[in-house]
Order: sequence, then structure tokens, then C-alpha cells
Amino acid sequence: MKKAIYPGSFDPVTLGHLDIIKRAATIFDELTVLVMDNSQKCKLFSADERVNMISGLLCDVSNVQVSSWAGLLVDYAKESGANIIVRGLRTTTDFEYELQMAHTNHLEYDPIETVFLTTALSYSYLSSSVVREFASYGGDISSFVPESIIPMIKERYKEIGLKDRKG
Ligand code: COA
Repeated sequence: MKKAIYPGSFDPVTLGHLDIIKRAATIFDELTVLVMDNSQKCKLFSADERVNMISGLLCDVSNVQVSSWAGLLVDYAKESGANIIVRGLRTTTDFEYELQMAHTNHLEYDPIETVFLTTALSYSYLSSSVVREFASYGGDISSFVPESIIPMIKERYKEIGLKDRKG
């Protein structure tokens, strides 16, 4: 049984993340999309909001579950019995950071292996901060995120207050 985890902050989830999730689901028997927090980043959505957002997009993928975890990734792996971490690589700039994380996680928990999937070329420019930046000015984010989550993102920026597009 190949049990894998796809961890990330997914704030918000993008079409690039979804592409990785759907491809990983065909490779592994079970995949957990794990909503986590990167302590260096401010959050737009709470962990529960992000879990609900992603779950709603994956109803048709039977071997994928969505969960959240506030601690160390290796501890989740130990508890859940998963020993594969999936990460997407967009460009070479991702590589150094990802290599460091993969080595650190492996040192902390020997059975864990990190598997990298190349992000689809069409999404290699994309990141959650690009989505947040566009959305914060009321920009069009329909080529970045699934249609169904756009209202939630727009609503959040309405609450926070949109920035002035024309300066
Ligand atoms: N499509 C679109 N965007 C993608 C992408 C893809 N396929 N793959 C990565 N990205 C983007 C994300 O949108 C994100 O963009 P942002 O920086 O603008 O928010 C960026 O790449 C990296 O995000 P993510 O994959 O979510 O990683 P992260 O650096 O935010 O967080 C964790 C990584 C949460 C897995 C890591 O910090 C962690 O494991 N934390 C838990 C504590 C822990 O165990 N620490 C030790 C780790 S060694």
C-alpha cells in the first residue's frame, strides 16, 4: 500500500496544486492533501477554510483525503503511516528549498521519501501569492484557481478591503 502525503500551505489552492494532486492520485494508493502552515507566511484563510475549499474540489477522486496538521510533517507521517511526501517542482529555484526540506525530513524520519512531480508547464509561473496579489486588487484570477473557489476569495478581500487598482 503506497500512502503519500502532499503537504502545503494552499493559501489558496491553485490549478497548479490540483494538477499535482490529480496526477499523484494515479500513482499512489492513498493520498492525503495536508494543509499546513509555513511559519514564515501570513495566512489569508484558516486551516479549516482551506481544508473545506480543497475537499469540495476533490469529491470525484476517491483515493484522496484532505486534512490539516499544525505540527511537524514527519510527526504526521509517523502517526498516519504514510512514508511518501509528494512535492511539486516548478522551476530550478524551487529545487534548492525542496532538497533542503527533503533531506531534513529524511534525517528526522528515515522511512520517509520525498517524490517530486514536475508542475505542469502551463502552471510553472503560478503561486498562491500571485493569486493573492491579483485578488487583492480585484483582478481576474480565473486562470489561476478553480472557478468554484473564486467567490470565497473575492468575499475575503471584500472583508479585508480591496486595494485601489489605479493606485
Ligand atoms: N502550483 C502552483 N503553486 C505551487 C505549486 C504548484 N504545483 N507548487 C508550489 N506552489 C507554490 C505555492 O502556491 C506556494 O506559493 P506562495 O509561496 O506564494 O504561498 C509556494 O509554491 C510554496 O508553497 P507550499 O508548497 O505550500 O510550501 P510552503 O513553503 O508554503 O510550505 C510546508 C511547505 C508547509 C510543507 C513546510 O513548511 C512544512 O512542512 N511545514 C511544517 C513544519 C515542518 O515540518 N517543518 C520542517 C520542514 S523541513
